[in-house]
Amino acid sequence: MSKYFITGIAGLLGSNLADYILKNTKHDVYGIDDLSGGYIDNVNPKVVLHQKNILDEDFDEIFANVKPDYVYHFAAYAAEGLSPFIRCFNYDNNLKSTAKVVNNCIRHNVKRIVFTSSMATYGRAEPPFHEDLIPQPIDPYGIAKYACEMDIKVAGEQHGLDWCIIRPHNVYGIKQNIWDKYRNVLGIWMYQHLNGQPITIFGDGKQTRAFSYIKDSVGPLYRASQSDKASKQIINLGGIKECTIDQAADTLLSVMGSGTKKYMQARHEVKHAYSTYKKSEDLLGFSHKTSLYDGLQCMWDWAKQRPKRERFIWPFYELDKGIYSFWR
Ligand SMILES: NC(=O)c1ccc[n+]([C@@H]2O[C@H](COP(=O)([O-])OP(=O)(O)OC[C@H]3O[C@@H](n4cnc5c(N)ncnc54)[C@H](O)[C@@H]3O)[C@@H](O)[C@H]2O)c1
Repeated sequence: MSKYFITGIAGLLGSNLADYILKNTKHDVYGIDDLSGGYIDNVNPKVVLHQKNILDEDFDEIFANVKPDYVYHFAAYAAEGLSPFIRCFNYDNNLKSTAKVVNNCIRHNVKRIVFTSSMATYGRAEPPFHEDLIPQPIDPYGIAKYACEMDIKVAGEQHGLDWCIIRPHNVYGIKQNIWDKYRNVLGIWMYQHLNGQPITIFGDGKQTRAFSYIKDSVGPLYRASQSDKASKQIINLGGIKECTIDQAADTLLSVMGSGTKKYMQARHEVKHAYSTYKKSEDLLGFSHKTSLYDGLQCMWDWAKQRPKRERFIWPFYELDKGIYSFWR
């Protein structure tokens, strides 16, 4: 039996991966989450949970006590569009916390760290994004993720730490945060509709993205720590069929059975972002099973049963200059 330590275990990926490991294996699952972006009711009761921030002083002690075999480092605040306005927070939360996790993985001879990077690393590169492209991130979130990737690779070279870096593509589904107005477009739309508002689209809606249902992603995530082939590899995950944001909105409106769209000020964002997925099929046994319509149907059925929670709003930004009208 091995010990798995998942950071960000109360979030979408962490909680669903913990459920998967506990259901399909006999391994023990430990986790840490400060509940800044996830919810305690997402966490499987069999998980040993530390309700803490990675940046807290006693993180090293927690890690030493768990002494995990495998680490999944998912904890992050993934609000890409907001990251230019919360720069310092972004680098502390994403980059500094990764450095702390990496230090501990080296110190305690962890067998492999799996890190979730992002499509945001590709930035202005030409789609479809292939793992061999040189990243050209266009915002602090993408820069932080790219820096984390490089840090982990260097830890592999100098200290022999084994790693696998996953670049997931717009994962959505049950247990996703739908109460944060800065991230998770499909969740934002569900929240708006549940609260009697039109669903909002930044710009003309002709941006292209691809979406991945969480259930199709967890098996490959588990194999990312287990498969010999995945050792020291960067692998895109999910998102096999791109669509425009407008088409994604129409799909959700048809799932919800009603609602309208409202177009807002355009954001500083990549126009077209979709990726190759062959490597995830070959190395992680990824298989796209769930259509956007079916995945949204499952998530919408779940979202309708959620408690009415206060929406998360930043009390102040580090930078006001250039902030969009809808976030003022
Ligand atoms: N979901 C996606 O589409 C997607 C796409 C690309 C990359 N990713 C990356 O995958 C990872 C997981 O994404 P997710 O969708 O599950 O996000 P999520 O927000 O649902 O989960 C992240 C969890 O981390 C916790 N957390 C954040 N900072 C923390 C800290 N300093 N200490 C302790 N806990 C902290 C939050 O409370 C939250 O529960 C993130 O690193 C994200 O950047 C996700």
